Amino acid sequence: MQTSPNTKRARLVAAGAGALIVVFVSFVVSALASRPARPAAMSDAPPPSSAASLASSATATPTIDPAPDEPPNRRADLGRRIFFDGDLSDPPGTSCAACHDPARAYSGVHGSATGVASGSRPGRFARRSTPSLLYLRFVRRFHLRWDEDADFPEALGGFFWDGRADSIAALVEQPLLNPNEMGNRDKRSIAARLASSAYAADLRAEFDDVFATPERAVEALGECVEAFLTSASMSPFSSKYDDFVRGQATLTPLEARGMALFQDHTKGACSSCHTMNPRSPIPERSPFTDYGYEVVAVPRNRRLPPSPAPDLGVCERKDPKFHTDDAPFCGRFRTPSLRNVAVRPSFMHNGVFTRLRDVVAFYATRATDPRRWYANGHFDDLPAKYWSYVDTSPAPYDRREGETPALDDGDVDALVAFLETLTDKELR
Ligand code: HEC
Ligand code: HEC
Repeated sequence: MQTSPNTKRARLVAAGAGALIVVFVSFVVSALASRPARPAAMSDAPPPSSAASLASSATATPTIDPAPDEPPNRRADLGRRIFFDGDLSDPPGTSCAACHDPARAYSGVHGSATGVASGSRPGRFARRSTPSLLYLRFVRRFHLRWDEDADFPEALGGFFWDGRADSIAALVEQPLLNPNEMGNRDKRSIAARLASSAYAADLRAEFDDVFATPERAVEALGECVEAFLTSASMSPFSSKYDDFVRGQATLTPLEARGMALFQDHTKGACSSCHTMNPRSPIPERSPFTDYGYEVVAVPRNRRLPPSPAPDLGVCERKDPKFHTDDAPFCGRFRTPSLRNVAVRPSFMHNGVFTRLRDVVAFYATRATDPRRWYANGHFDDLPAKYWSYVDTSPAPYDRREGETPALDDGDVDALVAFLETLTDKELR
């Protein structure tokens, strides 16, 4: 096995989470230092509304109201207008926000009942569930780390469920060109849509050469969207949990119990991957992800049509630099941040769950009651040859079928109550 979860746990305990946190904090500090501070205000996104109305109000783009101490950020402003522009899809009507709904922490299903979002064309669906786009400014490039005691390296960082993209600016062309998402034929057609947009003149003012070639237009589009998604207002740190670590809020007894279970290595052990540090008053030290990739072996999503090929996650990356196509990387998906998880409409890379409580109950009873989750009683969305890589050692998975779960029903409720404290103020 890779760095077994036990090794990972030992490492985290031994180092007091030092190594990870130091890297993360130094990154945060430099990120913060290089960006203008800005009070959390997602209010400069349009008021939460349904995907359909966002898509139809394509040209009613929101205006940016910079805080008095923040210099105007023209690129972020343009990025926001692009993000909410329903005329960039083919056929028109599907903006980025159609799937990444601000009211759902910029995740969403675009009206689909399958757990994965509908695209711009009828009957077309994205392959995976839509991740939240908040807190993306902290995501680092994809890389491998090889610990001395590990059999093979650990993957960290990168965008998408499988880490196949290294920058927001570069990945934006993927949804635009994907026939199951925004459906543009080629970059030329995207450039034409930009050129006839209400903000074409502003784009020209910002980038002299924006319409020189279709490639340049798409590149400029990516730079603007990246400026928007990494702006301070997209990492608000305004949840009850954030106020709690700042000493400005108190958790209820149920929430506090959930937080203890979340960190207890004999109970939930959630924080070994969904990293947090409640002893630090700095919310950035609680990202609720270690940016790693794990084989949780989520059940197959039976609302999706049977797929000819299983989704193998990281080992599908074609990457000459990192050779991530080896078997130990198969079935690995990124550990998502749990910030704002309670407002998401579907969960896990395949959108199999639609209720947060089911996700937590799955963790609690995957080992003790597998038949509740898997049609065949065993990891039914992962080919058998990869089962040896599934995380099985720490609690709550470290038991056999029929044994008592590490977390009972009351514990599951407490964990859900704790996860609900991670919802930012603007979304409550
Ligand atoms: C049809 C729904 C849909 C539309 C429209 C859409 N996305 Fe996404 N987005 C997704 C899905 C699904 C993923 C995850 C894909 C994966 O991991 O393979 C994703 C992932 C992302 C990510 C990576 C997030 C992360 O945590 O790694 C970013 C950034 C993103 N989208 C931005 C955009 C932008 C910008 C647009 C508009 C140009 C857009 N998306 C349009 C569904 C959509
Ligand atoms: C071994 C690392 C690891 C541990 C421990 C862990 N998780 Fe996760 N978590 C993940 C990964 C990886 C995913 C995504 C899995 C997938 O989609 O295939 C995930 C997904 C989730 C999601 C869905 C989020 C979303 O946006 O779809 C929730 C909720 C969650 N975990 C809660 C918990 C709780 C509660 C615990 C403790 C009982 C826990 N996790 C323990 C790695 C971990």
